[in-house]
Amino acid sequence: MGFFNSATQSIPSITEIPKHIAVIMDGNGRWARKRFLPRIAGHKRGVEAVRDLVKYCVSLKVEYLTLFAFSSENWRRPNEEVSFLMGLFMDALKREVSKLHQNNIKLILIGDRSRFDSALIAQIEESVQLTANNTGLTLTIAANYGGRWDILQAVNQMQLASPHLVGLYEEAHLTPYLSMSYAPEPDLFIRTGGEKRISNFLLWQLAYTELYFTDTLWPDFNETAFNLAIESYQKRERRFGRTSEQLAEHKR
Ligand code: IPE
Ligand code: IPE
Ligand code: MG
Repeated sequence: MGFFNSATQSIPSITEIPKHIAVIMDGNGRWARKRFLPRIAGHKRGVEAVRDLVKYCVSLKVEYLTLFAFSSENWRRPNEEVSFLMGLFMDALKREVSKLHQNNIKLILIGDRSRFDSALIAQIEESVQLTANNTGLTLTIAANYGGRWDILQAVNQMQLASPHLVGLYEEAHLTPYLSMSYAPEPDLFIRTGGEKRISNFLLWQLAYTELYFTDTLWPDFNETAFNLAIESYQKRERRFGRTSEQLAEHKR
């Protein structure tokens, strides 16, 4: 596992195309409701939007794409919707993994798997294993993921690994145990569906990420919508605590 710079420990290098994009895919239910369809129809269409987004990211040579598929709080939804989402997740894995593999995409799952049924856990393990040595886009799916859960599980692992350090922990002790220790911190965060919140997604990792919110509902998030997000990112000035004048100085 590689170790990456932390935006708070040193200033990360910036590229025109974000190296890591993290997405909250929101608005499936509302997309369906607008069409007088059941919410699950929106989730189905949402999978197609995922397939397309992966393509755009591959063509732009984005290195890491991280998608929030199911939050630790989504268990609060009606049982039928939760079961449908689990089934959809299982089917999508089965159906798509060979295509991901052919395209040299590495699939990683983050989140607490312990609440999934054993068939789904087996399918996840098989899919991750198959693509483990691929060197193209790293596609991370956050499923039963919560930012607080992530920080707490990392603290627990860290403490088990170095109990003698109690009271002396630094960032570098903790970050190797965070779920996304294999990736640089996200450059760009996109949330579709109009809400302006993080909903317990990557709390630690988003410290200096550029945030982009769009009213576009997830199933409608097409190439044009994606390009708007990238263009918005390219107009941002990422200062990481410094002044604009310092940045100008730096460029000269
Ligand atoms: C996002 O769409 C998908 C998941 C959370 C699984 P929603 O289902 O939250 O759609 P809205 O927000 O109700 O429209
Ligand atoms: C966030 O969407 C989680 C996912 C997209 C998986 P939600 O629709 O669950 O978020 P809230 O409940 O509106 O904050
Ligand atoms: Mg929602």
